[in-house]
Amino acid sequence: MTAGSYHAMLCQRLGPPDVLEMAELPRQPLKPGEVRIAVRVAGVNFPDLLQVAGQYQHKPPLPFVPGFEAAGEIIDLAGDVQGWQAGDAVLLRGTGAYAEEMIAPAAALLPKPADWSWDEAAAFPVAASTAWVALLPRGRLQAGETLLVLGAGGGTGLAAVSLGAGCGAHVVAVASSPVKRAAAQAAGAAICLDPAVAGWEQAVQADLVFDPVGGALFTTAWKALKPGGRWLVVGFAGGTIPRLPANRLLLKEAELIGVRAGEQGRRNPAAAKALDAGLRAWLVGSERRRPLIGAVYRLDEAATALRQLADRKAVGKLVLHPR
Ligand SMILES: NC(=O)c1ccc[n+]([C@@H]2O[C@H](COP(=O)([O-])OP(=O)(O)OC[C@H]3O[C@@H](n4cnc5c(N)ncnc54)[C@H](OP(=O)(O)O)[C@@H]3O)[C@@H](O)[C@H]2O)c1
Repeated sequence: MTAGSYHAMLCQRLGPPDVLEMAELPRQPLKPGEVRIAVRVAGVNFPDLLQVAGQYQHKPPLPFVPGFEAAGEIIDLAGDVQGWQAGDAVLLRGTGAYAEEMIAPAAALLPKPADWSWDEAAAFPVAASTAWVALLPRGRLQAGETLLVLGAGGGTGLAAVSLGAGCGAHVVAVASSPVKRAAAQAAGAAICLDPAVAGWEQAVQADLVFDPVGGALFTTAWKALKPGGRWLVVGFAGGTIPRLPANRLLLKEAELIGVRAGEQGRRNPAAAKALDAGLRAWLVGSERRRPLIGAVYRLDEAATALRQLADRKAVGKLVLHPR
């Protein structure tokens, strides 16, 4: 079923979100191990914004279709794919999700829980895998520890709050607006703090910090890290990459830990297997573990959705509907 075409938001030149344009693309044949998905919903992520701007670590050749996650139905499978069949409802991490159709390796698929909406399923894999890799294999989070989550009302932040609370941590959430703090509380945060209130960091002694923000918040929040604490460098949504004199690590006997959720599994098959098992367990977890859907857009409104992220207005996850 290779003949045919589909619509996608295409990035033909790097720049702000408005460079994305709807295009009709020819279907490509499947390679061994691949499946074709009819995308019901695509998730929107901060890295999409960076990739379209040419600022992401992975730079695909132009033109490309952005989008790292989706939920939909399998419509075609390569002959060697086992364990899946046409019509299966799935969610996945992949590339080219801002489209009516995408191709992905079968190994990237997870079954969509029947009681999750398509929006929830599509919004799950990137934030959940980031939180899981960060807090567990990288951060070694233990029940009873205090976990400080920065940017806690955003996509990865909310996922870290709900996973951390589910692991028995005492979660302290930092988020800039009442609606973001309410979302973090609903996801399991015990305490929610406003970073605009001077001295907020004095109320916290964190064993582990999940930091997708960087920038000026890094410097303030560093004071909330306990001696011997661990700091997860997840991202720089705040726009600047902070600098830390090495003596600060020495003084606190602290650990600074880099997180690359996608890369870890590509480098190490055992880590990929552990992540797959961790996400499958998460998918059968409690109601609180579902992603919060902040807003829904049509596929041709992808630029508007990306601007919401850039303008710090998104709460939880944004999603796109191609049909
Ligand atoms: N390391 C990895 O494996 C990995 C994986 C996925 C994503 N990331 C990175 O993690 C970061 C966050 O991703 P996300 O999906 O959580 O993004 P998001 O949903 O947009 O949340 C980011 C949060 O950062 C805060 N923020 C502070 N200053 C900001 C600014 N100038 N612009 C935008 N946000 C600002 C906002 O919270 P407040 O308003 O409360 O301050 C916002 O809610 C990005 O840099 C992304 O590239 C890393």
